[in-house]
Amino acid sequence: NQQIPHDKSLDNSLALMQEGYLFIKNRVDRYQSDIFGARVLLQNAICMSGEEAAKVFYDPERFERLGAVPKRVQQTLFGQNGVQGLDGDAHFLRKQLFMSLMTLPQQKRLAELALNEWNACIPKWENAKKVVLFDEAKNILCRIACHWAGVPLLESEVKERADDFIAMVYAFGAVGPLHWKGRRARAKTEQWIREVVEEVRAGRINAEEGSALHVMALHRQLDGSRLDTQIAAVELINVLRPIVAIATFITFAALALHEYPECREKLQSDDDNYLEMFVQEVRRYYPFGPFLGAKVKKDFVWHDCEFKKGTLVLLDMYGTNHDSRLWENPNEFRPERFKQWEGSLFDFIPQGGGDPAKGHRCPGEGITVEIMKASVGFLVNKIQFDVPEQDLTFSLSTMPTLPESGFVMSNIRRKPEYQ
Ligand code: HEM
Repeated sequence: NQQIPHDKSLDNSLALMQEGYLFIKNRVDRYQSDIFGARVLLQNAICMSGEEAAKVFYDPERFERLGAVPKRVQQTLFGQNGVQGLDGDAHFLRKQLFMSLMTLPQQKRLAELALNEWNACIPKWENAKKVVLFDEAKNILCRIACHWAGVPLLESEVKERADDFIAMVYAFGAVGPLHWKGRRARAKTEQWIREVVEEVRAGRINAEEGSALHVMALHRQLDGSRLDTQIAAVELINVLRPIVAIATFITFAALALHEYPECREKLQSDDDNYLEMFVQEVRRYYPFGPFLGAKVKKDFVWHDCEFKKGTLVLLDMYGTNHDSRLWENPNEFRPERFKQWEGSLFDFIPQGGGDPAKGHRCPGEGITVEIMKASVGFLVNKIQFDVPEQDLTFSLSTMPTLPESGFVMSNIRRKPEYQ
């Protein structure tokens, strides 16, 4: 592979941890090449960025997911033997279970549940000295995710379960205590959800037809068997955990409202198009998912680069969302850019690229966008608050990241109607 630039370091794992979200983009800019070779995670890998790279990455003839996710990520974020690591027909069939749950009416239902929860917070917040938005959001989202999915959850359990979902998500790039916290959270959550699945199968918990609990616990595969209990639990967690993780985007949305007050004014005008553009820009601009991994399925050549079977390939999500060929002044927060956006499947990839029904792209984008819209609408139109002195910076080397303070609000009041 002489044709593509190679990073000279013996191993880039340290640089990856230090540069985080910018690791691939820094080198793409340095080498003036969308593609380069590097040693990461103790193996030779190819890193790539941009729309063309995303198109290849999602070609199922060229890439597969089996064995692409490091064990430590399976032990925390994803779980083992879930949809993320499947290929071909097995993936397609499993993915259909997820797609069936995420229809437009279901997206709207979740948004409505979220808005009800936000509204119910107001009296409590009016009496509180300060409120940390991220903490409130994760609890609310955990409550509505379980309710919507049909998973019984006592009010006294909400905080602990929400914290466990968040611990799995924030273990992604972590080593040491945060990694172990994620592992414990996963083990505990899997045990809980396995028991719920078993109770449904034993007829002791009623799962409503069409709910996530019903689908994962009772679905019959082609051979008539049910999903293995452990796998059913992993997949049900694959529905619950990411809904809780929307708390991160909601916190960044609040930061955007604070940093760009002109956007807040436009959002007050009740224009649903602007609300949607604002939410899309939050998903593009702020860092959440950094990159994705897949393995080369069979040898091929692309852009003069030899892709050898079994090689790990990383696709730069963050860099593609900040690629100046795709986004004019990518480091400016400007919701209006989505007015002209044509909607390619491979240029705007905060939750992966391609067609979610056919490939690995996130099936939960509709849910994410609708819950974010409801939450931003609430923050702008239902309450007034102060943003006291706090540390709102976020690190680009921690993956995933979050504004340090979690976004503290004080002096919260209900906004008078008809203002
Ligand atoms: C996959 C991001 C919300 C369920 C993914 C992928 C990303 C992602 C980057 C991987 C795409 C790939 O491998 O090609 C996010 C972000 C979210 C979010 C940043 C915001 C919080 C959701 C929601 C759900 C969901 C709300 C479900 C309710 C899934 C599932 C997969 C997935 C099941 C695996 C798909 C597959 O392997 O075929 N998500 N997601 N996600 N997401 Fe999301």
